[in-house]
Amino acid sequence: GGKKPLAGRTAIVTSGPTHEPIDPVRYIANRSSGRQGHAIAAALARLGAKVTLVSGPVTLPDPSGVTVVEVERADDMLQAVLAALPADIAVMVAAVADWRVATPNAEKIKKQPGEGPPPLMLTENPDILKTVGHHAKRPKVVVGFAAETQDVESNGRVKLQKKGADLIVANDVSPETGIMGGTRNSVKLITAAGIEEWPELSKEEVAGRLADWIAEKLT
Ligand code: C5P
Repeated sequence: GGKKPLAGRTAIVTSGPTHEPIDPVRYIANRSSGRQGHAIAAALARLGAKVTLVSGPVTLPDPSGVTVVEVERADDMLQAVLAALPADIAVMVAAVADWRVATPNAEKIKKQPGEGPPPLMLTENPDILKTVGHHAKRPKVVVGFAAETQDVESNGRVKLQKKGADLIVANDVSPETGIMGGTRNSVKLITAAGIEEWPELSKEEVAGRLADWIAEKLT
């Protein structure tokens, strides 16, 4: 112990879900506890990196030694990430909602007798990983996650290209795996060089190994 291979390095990590408002009391969200993202922020900090953790709403404590920026919507998450550039490392772990309600209602939407449910017009959210992966101030190491329920490998490869990432950490989040919201993770690392499969590990162990991988990549 005691080695700080990421001393002097800066990192941005996104974690948790985003909440996209429908009206002041309702929102669209993803199933994400933030456990994996928070563990990665902590692991990078332990290796000496100066970490900004941009987190959606979670019930987890702030990891120690990390600067936490709390956001709700994808748009706010993107702004917080861009504000934290330049950085050496970006690890985008947040389960960002793909869509938001185009025009959230200023007041709580009321049930209208006889009218049925209100239609929701959705619009696409910004892709934060893709924006960072193609940014003029692109960090030296850009890592994304791919939560898939099928074709984990081929979808991960496509994502690596599209997002401009150096590494996609792909996992199978089919309900029967218990990964989403759970404490363990079973991941495949997809890079331009190929694919590497890790055994089932705790999310903390995945975070530790990933931080080591990133440190290696930067030396
Ligand atoms: O395209 P997909 O959502 O499967 O990609 C997942 C990866 O992209 C994750 O690293 C996630 O944090 C990131 N992402 C993002 N902004 C979005 C959608 C996904 O940063 N709007």
